[in-house]
Amino acid sequence: MENSVKIQTVASEIRGTGMCVPERVVSNEHFAAYLETSDEWIRERTGIEQRRWCEKGTSASALAEPACREAISAAGLTVNDIDGIVLGTVTPDNIFPSTACYLQARLGITNGFAFDVNAVCSGFIYALTTADALIRSGQGTNVLVVGVDLYSGIIDPNDRGTCVLFGDGAGAVVLSRKQGESLVDGAFGDHLAQGDVRSISGIYGSELKADGRFADLLCVPMGTANPPTPDSLKRGDHFLQMQGREVFKFAVRSLADVTKSVLDRAGVSVEEVDLFISHQANKRILLSMAKHLGIPEEKVPINVDRYGNTSAATIPIVLAECEREGRIKKGDLLLLSAVGGGFSWGAVLVRW
Ligand code: ACO
Repeated sequence: MENSVKIQTVASEIRGTGMCVPERVVSNEHFAAYLETSDEWIRERTGIEQRRWCEKGTSASALAEPACREAISAAGLTVNDIDGIVLGTVTPDNIFPSTACYLQARLGITNGFAFDVNAVCSGFIYALTTADALIRSGQGTNVLVVGVDLYSGIIDPNDRGTCVLFGDGAGAVVLSRKQGESLVDGAFGDHLAQGDVRSISGIYGSELKADGRFADLLCVPMGTANPPTPDSLKRGDHFLQMQGREVFKFAVRSLADVTKSVLDRAGVSVEEVDLFISHQANKRILLSMAKHLGIPEEKVPINVDRYGNTSAATIPIVLAECEREGRIKKGDLLLLSAVGGGFSWGAVLVRW
């Protein structure tokens, strides 16, 4: 590239992945037994066949711990090597402190930083981008990036439009600092060296987006603006509420737009990407996005059929499964993308 400058700098790469889902399988028949719905409707409209739910009282940090231990071990590290935790969730252990702090204590880590990110289903993309920026600014060497959510506790079991969609799960990656390579800081700068994106492992860049005008289309309305009272509890304000059709339309458009934007800025074509690992909310959203972008379906891994929508956990769970199955190979170029409440959305381009 003309005027490109290669800079010796710090970057980050994913070194290990892990996941954990609860043992309890909840089939579509579970809902058909007490609601006006059917296995056929749920499969056809969402692609979901089953999901996993935790036992009541399970905390997000408890579900995340095994996923993190697996990621740390896959990275060839120990808990003593971890010096930061960035955790995406909207179903925290408590209101405060952060679930990341509870998780840190469970793992026996006492150094570095730990905090939560609230970006709903985009939580992992936001957390990964934040961790990458912290590593590049010298704040950490091996950072756990976690996505965990337990929506079984925040869905209204009598709302057929939402209760069938969600599952519980956790996924984690270890994001590690790498130095001395010619990967250019701020991969989207004018100085991006074209050759780098094709040869060196690491995070090449990301884009985070939000538009709060749509906040009420997907929310749990209880909070400081709407404190719990007998009336608000009776109304179910502590449960997730969603305008499904609106979310669907926005999801397809935003995932396609942010994917294109990240690839354009990196000078990478859709064809060059090996896998598009996208938030697992609904199989039809994934296939519509793929069609929109001209991506062959085999490049879009899908596991929403087995786990439902696990919100911030979907992307790290897909990453862990694809790695286990040998579907991700060293050198592959991955485009991760998600959209969720807020609305918030984003994408990250990664060379494995
Ligand atoms: N079983 C049977 N019928 C149902 C069910 C169900 N489980 N759920 C809704 N219906 C009915 C509706 O009541 C409606 O009936 P009506 O026509 O008599 O009013 C009919 O099905 C059609 O409803 P739509 O909402 O138009 O159905 P649609 O095909 O859009 O599917 C769905 C609904 C699956 C919720 C879809 O809109 C969707 O997946 N939206 C996006 C959801 C999503 O991605 N959410 C998460 C974002 S991530 C996050 O941040 C948490």
